[in-house]
Amino acid sequence: MKEELSILLQAKYPLIYLVTHEEDRAEKQIVAIAQRESQTRPVYVWSVVYGFNEYGQPRSRTNASTISPEAALQWVVNRKEPGIFVFKDLHPFMTSASPSVVRWLREAIASFRNENKSIVLMAPVQEVPAELEKDVVSVDFDLPNMEEIGQVLNQQLQKNGNFGGLPAVAQEKLVKAALGLTRDEAEKVFRKAYATRGCLTEAEVDVVLSEKRWLVKRNGVLEFVETDETIEGVGGLGELKTWLHQRSNAFTERARDYGLPQPKGMLILGVPGCGKSLIAKTTSRLWGLPLLRLDMGRVYDGSTVGKSEANLRNALKTAESVSPAILFIDEMDKAFSSGSGDSDGGTSNRIFGSFLTWMQEKKSPVFVMATANRVERLPSEFLRKGRFDEIFFVDLPTPQERSDIFRIHLQKRKRDIERFDLEQLAKVSDGFSGAEIEQALVAAMYDAFAQDREFTQLDIIAATRATMPLSKTMSEQVTALRDWARQRARPAAASVAEYQRLEF
Ligand SMILES: Nc1ncnc2c1ncn2[C@@H]1O[C@H](COP(=O)(O)OP(=O)(O)OP(=O)(O)O)[C@@H](O)[C@H]1O
Ligand SMILES: [Mg+2]
Repeated sequence: MKEELSILLQAKYPLIYLVTHEEDRAEKQIVAIAQRESQTRPVYVWSVVYGFNEYGQPRSRTNASTISPEAALQWVVNRKEPGIFVFKDLHPFMTSASPSVVRWLREAIASFRNENKSIVLMAPVQEVPAELEKDVVSVDFDLPNMEEIGQVLNQQLQKNGNFGGLPAVAQEKLVKAALGLTRDEAEKVFRKAYATRGCLTEAEVDVVLSEKRWLVKRNGVLEFVETDETIEGVGGLGELKTWLHQRSNAFTERARDYGLPQPKGMLILGVPGCGKSLIAKTTSRLWGLPLLRLDMGRVYDGSTVGKSEANLRNALKTAESVSPAILFIDEMDKAFSSGSGDSDGGTSNRIFGSFLTWMQEKKSPVFVMATANRVERLPSEFLRKGRFDEIFFVDLPTPQERSDIFRIHLQKRKRDIERFDLEQLAKVSDGFSGAEIEQALVAAMYDAFAQDREFTQLDIIAATRATMPLSKTMSEQVTALRDWARQRARPAAASVAEYQRLEF
């Protein structure tokens, strides 16, 4: 953290390890801190190519005799004047292959006792030899904040000839989409978005977001989900869609100023194949936030004690670093099922506990979107009021919703819907889930394709006849789930909500 770096330097810490990819920004920051000190210290920067040079001085002033790391450290020790000495990429020399470098570092910090000197080891990776572990403090250099990214965006807009700037909401969405990137990366991605689309507006948020993929990839437990699905491609679920639409600007400053709390998360329960995962994916586009899937299977790691917890912590930290973001936990019942705690030495209970604590305390704009269908397996703590902003229940589609789903999937396959009687299709697919409707349609298409002709209404009807929907084959489970969820969760479909209101 910048703050932390500033405190350490002001406290005259002798040896600081600064982990960053952004040398320029970090050097500027160090100089700014040095100048704020009551007794301003000059900053010297070393690299194995040039040796030491005072920051801001022309290259011709470089001290070529300090190219070797040992000579450079000796030079630092011998100087009488105060200073901050930044070593760029010294880590390859701090190995047993060159033991004198580590020894020189230890001599140097011992000699600093009463001197106003600090060494900053700057590198993109943290590699501290055991000999130095006790002497070094490590700091992660903060990525650019909204203000800095905003400057980068404005520069790019001006280069594109847009001097008036963007509407506030568009500006904020683009800036937030680039949070988590370095300054150079942000600049590159804004340039790329402009080059791809010929403009830089709110619509280019997805180009910016896709650039964050690699950040998340390095993590291993989180996966960056990219999707072309839009909310229009989801049939029915009117209540749920309205809820999501209402919150599309919920992570903006405007919403904070208005006095709204940051949405925490939602849980979607429901019958298999009715669009739970689908709607979660489309929310990413709707809100302009990246969708990060937390793969609980990859969190669990029995190789060493505490490894699973560390994996989860890491994943959540990564999610926070690219936030605002949606953290997608699909089929959460499989990961956090109650009762499985004893079989694995309590690991899953501990994981569940850490996750709940994190959800409770998180301040960063990470929206948790979880889905489940075996509700009876979920620990009851999850369902307690206030944990999630809302718990929705996605039921089997109503006739109107089924007709909608047929229309969507026919259109997706570029068919003229005028050729089909959607009402009749809705009727013959009673008890079908969205996924089963899609499967029946695809089956009809295969049949016709094999006969080298276009498929028709009759093919679809035949395919639905040949399908036994889950709601029939597993009718007891589905009924139990519906009964359970109707009591405790809000119906996702508008018509169901209406219907229930009429019932009471
Ligand atoms: N309401 C819907 N509108 C349009 N398509 C749907 C709908 N519901 C399901 N589908 C189709 O079925 C596919 C599978 O649905 P999805 O994976 O979202 O179901 P799910 O509720 O997550 O099921 P599961 O509980 O088995 O995970 C979707 O990708 C989509 O093509
Ligand atoms: Mg699913």
